[in-house]
Amino acid sequence: MNDLLMKAKQITEKYHQEHVFRFFDSLNVEEKEKLISQILSIDFEELTNLYEKTKMKEEKKEDRIEPILYRDKEKISDEERKQLEKVGIEEIKAGKLAAVTMAGGQGTRLGHHGPKGTFILDTIHQKSLFEILCDTLKKAKKDYGVVIPWYIMTSKENYADTVNFFEKENYFNYGRENIFFFKQGEFPMLDTNGKLLLNEEGTIKEAADGHGGVFESIIKNGVLQDMQQRKIEWIFIGGVDNCLVKMVDPLFIGMAIQKKVLAAGKSLIKASPEEKVGVFCKKNGKPSVIEYTEITKEMAEMRNKEGELVYGESHILCNMFHIKAIEQIGDNKLPYHIAFKKANYKDENGNMVEPKEPNAYKFETFLFDAFERLDDMLILRVKREEEFAPVKNASGVDSPETARKLYYAFHEKEEK
Ligand code: UD1
Repeated sequence: MNDLLMKAKQITEKYHQEHVFRFFDSLNVEEKEKLISQILSIDFEELTNLYEKTKMKEEKKEDRIEPILYRDKEKISDEERKQLEKVGIEEIKAGKLAAVTMAGGQGTRLGHHGPKGTFILDTIHQKSLFEILCDTLKKAKKDYGVVIPWYIMTSKENYADTVNFFEKENYFNYGRENIFFFKQGEFPMLDTNGKLLLNEEGTIKEAADGHGGVFESIIKNGVLQDMQQRKIEWIFIGGVDNCLVKMVDPLFIGMAIQKKVLAAGKSLIKASPEEKVGVFCKKNGKPSVIEYTEITKEMAEMRNKEGELVYGESHILCNMFHIKAIEQIGDNKLPYHIAFKKANYKDENGNMVEPKEPNAYKFETFLFDAFERLDDMLILRVKREEEFAPVKNASGVDSPETARKLYYAFHEKEEK
């Protein structure tokens, strides 16, 4: 340990982060080892560059942004739809589809304690978001006679709680052998002076580094290998918070095959310029998404002659990738986006501080930045009431109340 400790100390000196050793003497052996290994694994060059970026004025981007072409599900003829669905069903029946759910978010806005997927949304049947998602896989098993493997990405923090929840719920009778869990990466947070924050334990405070790490985590945790062994070709990747997410969609698969693309994303018409959703676009000729936190007001409000929003194809985090795309994207890091957030930390006197205002920079990568690494993708515009009922906030828009309403209405219609 002494050599490693020396090395860790040299690194922190070089990058002016010596304060991380402030509580070192009071840490137990395990915590000491953890701190050292954190220091040795952090990319301090990258961290320094990112901090420099926080001080720069928004750089003038020279990117060429254009609206993206999409297909509207409603405008597909019955004949074409049936033919495309047939192609998709064949793939599903041949066991070529897998589902990945990204469940590593903190769910801070919802105010739910524990992993977001454990939130009981269907209060009539006492079903959690995880169970609602699993229902769609169980339905596919009934319809197509195949078990679709389900891979769930958690944060390091909520991994154990997530697995324990599935244990307790007996994997919703989908079979423990068909559900796999893997952890996403973390990245340190910085205060406004570029200093690393410490957590209650006295080690470096790290936070989930965004769902863009999903590709890297899929590769590093043996998920890709497992998929390859199962001869999976299409991987649906979605969030945990949309209770109408359609993880198994033959039309979507059939259309991606017909268009000969390695990725596909679902969109819907943005409800208003202010809606908190990213929008699909073309950036320098490549498919891309502009996140709602980064779009300019002017661009968000731009309308065409018909009065429609020019950038109005909402990204709903319902995307599908061919396994070759995952191999192509590989473990090359996607760019970090910087957010300024509230983060508690241990101060120099050893007291925990709960800030009331944002105090720290958080660095996250976004899955959709991977689209730019592909030449083309399919965008399928679907209907909001059929595929998008997100649970984001404790009340108001995109809350359990609004999502529940859409969820019940959809299932009532389905059962008729
Ligand atoms: C997200 C999309 C936005 C889209 C909207 C639709 C991002 C960055 N933006 O916004 O373009 O229009 O959903 O609802 O995703 N997650 C992880 N690990 C992380 C962070 C998030 O697994 O480190 C998961 C969450 O558990 C959740 C999903 O990703 O399932 C979305 O994350 P969230 O941060 O809530 O995104 P939004 O801001 O709602």
